[in-house]
Order: sequence, then structure tokens, then C-alpha cells
Amino acid sequence: MSNALYLGDCVEVLSSLPSGIGDLFYVDPPFFSNRNYFANAGKPNQRKIFTDCWVGGLDEYCQWMESLLVQCRRVIKESGSMYLHCDQHASHYVKVLLDKIFGYENFRNEIIWKRQNAHNDWSQGARHFGRIHDVLFFYSASEDYAWNPVFVPYDEHYVERTYRHLENATGRYYALGDLSGPGGASKGNPRFTFLGATRNWRYSQEKMQKLLEAGRIVQTSQDTVPKLKRYLDEMNGTQVQDMWDDIKPVNRGGEKLGYPTQKPCRLLERIISASSNRGDVLIDPLFGSGTSLLTASKLGRRWIGIDSSTYACNLTRRRLERAGVEPVIVQNLDQQVSTQAIDTVRQLSRTRAQ
Ligand SMILES: C[S@@+](CC[C@H](N)C(=O)[O-])C[C@H]1O[C@@H](n2cnc3c(N)ncnc32)[C@H](O)[C@@H]1O
Repeated sequence: MSNALYLGDCVEVLSSLPSGIGDLFYVDPPFFSNRNYFANAGKPNQRKIFTDCWVGGLDEYCQWMESLLVQCRRVIKESGSMYLHCDQHASHYVKVLLDKIFGYENFRNEIIWKRQNAHNDWSQGARHFGRIHDVLFFYSASEDYAWNPVFVPYDEHYVERTYRHLENATGRYYALGDLSGPGGASKGNPRFTFLGATRNWRYSQEKMQKLLEAGRIVQTSQDTVPKLKRYLDEMNGTQVQDMWDDIKPVNRGGEKLGYPTQKPCRLLERIISASSNRGDVLIDPLFGSGTSLLTASKLGRRWIGIDSSTYACNLTRRRLERAGVEPVIVQNLDQQVSTQAIDTVRQLSRTRAQ
């Protein structure tokens, strides 16, 4: 299957796709913010892209969200995962829908993405704490889903505090780790005497002996408990937790394309690397500026992208082409999308053929 870029309504397009084809969904919908969104906001070439105003209020929004999530659940593989991006406007309602459609037992994380340092809106009359984070709900379709732990470098102070021993012969820094078995005898950790200390150890006597011979066990004096040498340069770093404050939003210059609500590539890199493998298919039913599609390509994943905005489709196609991502097959859905959408898809296909 090739990559496919659809111009059309996400629910309609998803309804036309076969069941069980997506390994990973990234869904970044309108958040129920009661706002209109413009490309190049405030500039002479400003242009309205999409509206997040709902005449029928929260009920209408939730009905739309439910129809979208039902399709996502149908199109996702049993081994697949889904990340839904939202914020305080409707996150609690969306979580209830996700529990209903994906199953409460398949909820994996509520990730807090700190997208801003501070929001000094008190001077405009705001009477609440600054709202500076988005929420990402992570669900799997079943118990058996792709998972690759992601690590970030250790905090500098932690390294200084923990990896404070220097091995003079090699210049390597190391920490001294506990060798006793967590949970003691109740967890089946073997009990024996090693270098004069009797404990329930983490490893078998044979393995402890091998570690000692390899110079990986240190006993600082005769009556101290032996410890394990953990070299800093062999460590992965800290496993990423559910609070993400190390990924900055897109700023002027760099990645910024002037598309409203554009998400940073690093955010998508983290999601895609954690929850999919090379060759897997990412589906983004509201791709906007195409951040997820570009990142998926860079990471060797295939993808299907859908957006109802012609502007988003053109921008993303150019963005992908600039990055040398080929082939981008723009598909239409014949009768299922509006005439305007079909015309634009034809136009895009013609442009590509030239
Ligand atoms: C929050 S933005 C996505 C931003 C994107 N993640 C990025 O990094 O640029 C939401 C997108 O949903 C699209 N959209 C809104 N309603 C839609 C619908 N019913 N079907 C398909 N796309 C829709 C909008 O055009 C907009 O591009």
C-alpha cells in the first residue's frame, strides 16, 4: 500500500476504508474552542481555514466526535494504538467517548503536553490559572499493541548526584546499584551468602560470580554489601513519563508554516516511535499542515492522511515534496466527496503529472 492523501470529510473518507488497516491513529481535531482558525493570521494574506464553532453546542460536538471515533476504531488493527489530541474545552467528554468506543481497559495514558511557559492573560481579565497544556489520550485497540519505550537524557543534577564515581583506568563514570532482589524471597529471589553478605539477591550465584569476575561488582570494604557498577555510557537515559515539558511548540522560523494549530515534529516523533514500527501505517484523519505524515515518512512508516481543507492539502503536498517524500498519491472518493473536493483532487493530480 502506498501513502495516500485524501481531501474530504474525515468521517466519510474513513467510512470508505476497509476495516483493520491502521497501526497507529493520530487524531488532532478541532477542540471545541468556539473559534475560527486562519492561516497567516494577522498578515495581508490571512485566510480562513476551518471553524471550531458548533451551533448545537457540546452535544453536536460530541455526536461528531463519536462518529469519528467509531470509524477510527473500525479502521484500526487489533494491534493498533490511537492518540487523541485535545484540551480543557472538551477533554473530559472525549475521554468518556474513548472509554465507550475503545474500552476503559484499553486506556493507556493521559499525557500532558506543556505547550507554553506562561499565559499572562490576567491583565485581559482572566480569572483562572494560566492554561498552558494540551491533553493527549493514548488508547490501544487491545492488550497486544506495539510499544517501544522512549528515553531522554538524564537530568544533569541526577547525573552529578548518581554517576559520581570515576573509574580511573577508563575515565568512565559509574553509579553503584543495589544487588538485592526487589520483593525478597516472596518474589523468588535466591538467598545465599556472597562476599560475606547474606541476602535475597537479584541474580543467581553463578551470575553474581560472573559479574564479579567481569569487574562489575564492587565491595568498598570487607563488611559492606557488594554493589553493582552501572556505567553512565551504557544507560539509555530516563524513560519518558506522561508529563511532556521538553517539546516546544512551533515557533517563528524553523518549522513554522503559518498553519493554525500546527504541531511540532518532535511531538509526533515521540508518538510514532513509541507506538509503531517501520513499515506500519499511520492514519491522520485531520492532518492540517501534515506534521504527522512528514514525520511518519522520515521514520519509515507509511501513512493515510485526510483533511477537508484544500489549503491544508496543498500546503502538505508541497511540504512533503520539499522533503523529498515520494510518492504522494492523492486519491479522491468519486461520489463521496463534494464537487469542489473532486475538482481540487483532479487539479492536484494534474499538477503532479506535469
Ligand atoms: C487541529 S488541526 C490539525 C493540525 C495538525 N495536527 C498539524 O500539525 O498541522 C485540525 C484540522 O482538521 C481539519 N478538519 C476539520 N474538520 C474536518 C473534517 N470534518 N474532516 C476532515 N478534516 C477536518 C481542519 O482543516 C484542520 O486542518
